[in-house]
Amino acid sequence: MCGIFGIITNQDISVGKIVFEGIRRLEYRGYDSCGIVSLTDSQLIVKKDSGKIDDIQKRIDLSDFPLSSKIALAHTRWATHGPPTKENSHPHLDCTSKIAVVHNGIIDNFIELREELSSNGHVFKSDTDTEVIPHLIEEFMKQNNNDLKGSLREALKKIKGSYALAACYAEDPESIIVARKESPLVIGIEEGKTTYCASDIPAFLPLTRSCYIMNDNEIAVLKSGEVEFFDRKTGQFIEKELQLIEWSIDAAEKGGYDHFMLKEIYEDPMALMRTMKISQRELSLLAHMLWSADNIYITAAGTSFYASLAGKFIITKFLGKYIHAIECSEFKNQLENSLKDNAIIIALSQSGETIDTIEAIRWAKKKKNIKIITVTNVVGSSLTRYSDKVIVTQAGPEIGVAATKTYVTQVLTLALIALEIAKLRRIETPEEIEKYYNALKSTPQIIEKFLNENVELINEIVKTLEKSVNFFFLARGISIATAKEGGLKLKEVACRFIEGYSAAHAKHGPISLVREGFPIIFVAPPDETYQRLIGNVMEFKSRGGKIISLVAEDDTKIANLSDMVIRIPQPSDKYHNIFSPITFTPALQLLAYYASISSNLDPDKPLNLSKTVTVH
Ligand code: AGP
Repeated sequence: MCGIFGIITNQDISVGKIVFEGIRRLEYRGYDSCGIVSLTDSQLIVKKDSGKIDDIQKRIDLSDFPLSSKIALAHTRWATHGPPTKENSHPHLDCTSKIAVVHNGIIDNFIELREELSSNGHVFKSDTDTEVIPHLIEEFMKQNNNDLKGSLREALKKIKGSYALAACYAEDPESIIVARKESPLVIGIEEGKTTYCASDIPAFLPLTRSCYIMNDNEIAVLKSGEVEFFDRKTGQFIEKELQLIEWSIDAAEKGGYDHFMLKEIYEDPMALMRTMKISQRELSLLAHMLWSADNIYITAAGTSFYASLAGKFIITKFLGKYIHAIECSEFKNQLENSLKDNAIIIALSQSGETIDTIEAIRWAKKKKNIKIITVTNVVGSSLTRYSDKVIVTQAGPEIGVAATKTYVTQVLTLALIALEIAKLRRIETPEEIEKYYNALKSTPQIIEKFLNENVELINEIVKTLEKSVNFFFLARGISIATAKEGGLKLKEVACRFIEGYSAAHAKHGPISLVREGFPIIFVAPPDETYQRLIGNVMEFKSRGGKIISLVAEDDTKIANLSDMVIRIPQPSDKYHNIFSPITFTPALQLLAYYASISSNLDPDKPLNLSKTVTVH
């Protein structure tokens, strides 16, 4: 849950400044502390402190290292083992201060290793699990003729857990050694000149587009403008294909927007257009797999789970089979005694690195004859390695901690699979299916129009809600997913308490909280639940609730009952209604964004959160 970045070069460039910018681009992975180490004249110089990078930079210049340095490693931390203090910040060194390590992941057996190393005389300076790594390497250096790669391989044999790590040795100015297991690591290269390692591609995208993606249990030796890969266990050389990254640098940076979150909301339409192009062949293959499965589960966390709830609804409509949607962290608990054979699990994850999602599918695969379909936004992410079929959504890199454009592309991907199923089963005429396709194809234009025309209205609503701390987001049917996702966004970035709930179920308890002016957002597309939702709106209105409704363009009934109305510019027909989680959610993303701004919060860095959750 941290970010790492490294550079080795033979060019006359400031490695300090490059790693500083590189690690800043990874700050979305954690921002509890930051540190950089560089190697100059056989000495490791470390600068680190707790806090956000820009705040630390005001106190110490993190990028200021001698120009003769040709190696630097950097780290941005999301605290797991030990509080966010300077001592616990990476890089961590061994007893001789000659070996430096930056690490993302968790060393599960660090307590035992620490005890063993301490009894051998090693002195620890932090509470972290990571610090055992440089000390273990130090142990093996003696037996390995001071060879860093060999010693790291030995050290990794003793380590249980996950890691993407980079290490350098003061006496070796010619190489950085990196290793990966269950945490992401990519290598960028400018041939003959400079080599980078990073937790994510956008970190080095302004510097190079040529990259290698590392797999689990691989080690790499980075030299200036060169890299070699090896199997960690056998030590054998691995041939790897160089990949050319086509993302625009713009997509990985903030562009003209104040925050990544806003930029990414405005990228919803483009992300959807790109995702519409997922190969028909792939989709049809998935449709066949789902059609022949006896049991289907869908699992994910957070926003991806709410995308699953929406997607499950759409797929079930055309597949006619029940899909069990289970939060990944509860997957094993709930299915320990009832997981069925000949089943398929659809796993959704923006990052492909959420440990609970990975664990759920690994557990299920060990237990039964199960196939895994993964829908992720990140090529080569850990989840893809445990999957039988992978569909990559085309949202592009998402930097804002709050998932936005990836949510709409996840729902779209599941909707595209659903329409393939409809074709396969012939439960709809080709003309009807065409109408559903056209409705899906129109989602980018609907969202674009909404975003262009409603900023003022959204800000007006935010202003009237400025003082409210508690909210209900209510809906029925498929829109419960939208209510939950919209509520989660406001919670995350604007620090409000929200209950995203079924409008019908809310009268069995939650309604007792309603007083004069209590804000309730009703998500109300004109689908088959609409008539009954009118009754729910009245129940809450008559108790003094302030009603804000999210409705289709030509709505009158619920709009007339509401204090404020947000209109989504889409036709009121069944073809569009079923895809309303795609077209209605951006309005709630925008509401959350401006609520965050009006509360003077940073929507890109919500308190206590990290973009990728790799702890249980
Ligand atoms: C989204 O806004 C959240 N930050 C969070 O709930 C996220 O969706 C969740 O952690 C799952 O992440 P994933 O999609 O990368 O697996």
